[in-house]
Order: sequence, then structure tokens, then C-alpha cells
Amino acid sequence: MPRIEIAPSLLAADFSRLGEEVAAVEAAGADWLHLDVMDGHFVPNISFGPLVLRALRASTRLPFDVHLMIAPVDPFLAEFASAGADQILIHPEAGPHLHRSLQAIRGLGKRAGVVLNPATPLEAVAWVLDLVDTVLMMTVNPGFGGQAFLPSQLPRIAALRGMISASGRPIRLAVDGGVAPGTAGPAAEAGADTLIAGSAVFGTPDYAHAIAALRAEAGKAAHPNPVDLPDHSGGAGD
Ligand code: DX5
Ligand code: ZN
Repeated sequence: MPRIEIAPSLLAADFSRLGEEVAAVEAAGADWLHLDVMDGHFVPNISFGPLVLRALRASTRLPFDVHLMIAPVDPFLAEFASAGADQILIHPEAGPHLHRSLQAIRGLGKRAGVVLNPATPLEAVAWVLDLVDTVLMMTVNPGFGGQAFLPSQLPRIAALRGMISASGRPIRLAVDGGVAPGTAGPAAEAGADTLIAGSAVFGTPDYAHAIAALRAEAGKAAHPNPVDLPDHSGGAGD
């Protein structure tokens, strides 16, 4: 069974106390910190940029999972890498040459990920799997926290799990949006091994309990995975 990894999304944290919030999820057992960067153009919301990553970088040992919802994305990859990203996730729609953007991320020494919106064909990632460390399936439309999980994405998660298994590469399959008790299990059963959760962690009074509950529900349902997944702290590459 794959080890389920949990990545709390900072978007749902108390922005007046970001440093404390990050320390709290680290102490509560998070595996990653998920950072949602939004530009008000690619998605209809604005969040934060590299200055915030840089400010938080010194206050935690959690690896930074940086979800870029900005277009064009290419001009900002180096800035996010230097601000402290460990993994950079991009949408195929955010630039003209996904393959080149992924090469650029790996060239910066970072793990690379591709994010699929609910209507983005799986085929968008099929021919770049050799450059990818994580594929993230959106289970809401990107832009806001607190939306309802889209069950229509479950068969897509299963199909993506099949593609990843066939690739033979140690690619993580993450889900993002509406992940909570009740949806974590079905997502894991379909093939997800990494859960991103904003409201279901930061919106609760006990972060450790929330993280443990998600991990337990997903662990029970976990899809058997023939690919031996690496520890996420290994940096870019296989
Ligand atoms: C949405 C973001 C998500 C968001 C998830 O665009 O990509 O990471 O924070 O929030 P919840 O878990 O509340 O749906
Ligand atoms: Zn996200």
C-alpha cells in the first residue's frame, strides 16, 4: 500500500498568523505545505506570491508544494524556486509549451507537477509523464477553498492511476478540492495517494486530529499501487 501523504493548503489558514499556522500543521503531522498562488487572471481570485513563501521558508521544515494558478507561468518559475518551493505544480493551460515548462522546473532542481482541471483531458499529461513527479487532479474548479468535491472526477482519478502504473514511474497522484472526511476515502480508493486539504484541516479546531482522520480514512481505502513511491524529501529526479 502506498503511504498516504497529507498536504494542508495554506489558503484556509488565518492569514494574520501565517507563521503560527504553518508551525501548527507541521507539529500536527503534515507531510507537505500546499501553497496556492493565484493571480486574478488565470483564476478569479488573488492569494499571495513569492514574498510570502520566502517569509515562511525559514519558519518550517515542511517541504513546499507550490500550486501555481498564474498565467503566463514561465516568467515566475525561477522566482518561486528561489523563494523556497520544493515541488512546483503548473496547469497545462498556463503556458504554450508544457514540456518546456516542466524541463525548466527540473532544471531549477525542483520536483515538477502537472495539475488537471475538472475538464482538462487526461491526455494533456500523457506524453510528459517522464518529466513529472506528481499529477494533481483538481476535484473542484481552481480559485477558491471550501467548495464541494466533484464526484465526477473519481473515474478520472482511476484512469490516471492506470496511466501512472503503466508508466512504471514513481509518480504521486494528488487530489485537491473538497477533500474531507467522506471524500478522502473514495479519492484514495480511486487511486489518490496524496491529499491536499484546506478547510478540512485549517477549518477545524484540532489540526492533528483532522490530519490523522484524513490519513486513516484514505489509508483504509488505498488503492494497491505497484509503483514504489519515493520519499517526497528527495528533491527533483527519480
Ligand atoms: C483551490 C486550491 C485548493 C484549495 C482547497 O484552487 O487549489 O488547494 O485550497 O481548499 P479546500 O480543501 O477547502 O477545498
Ligand atoms: Zn491547490
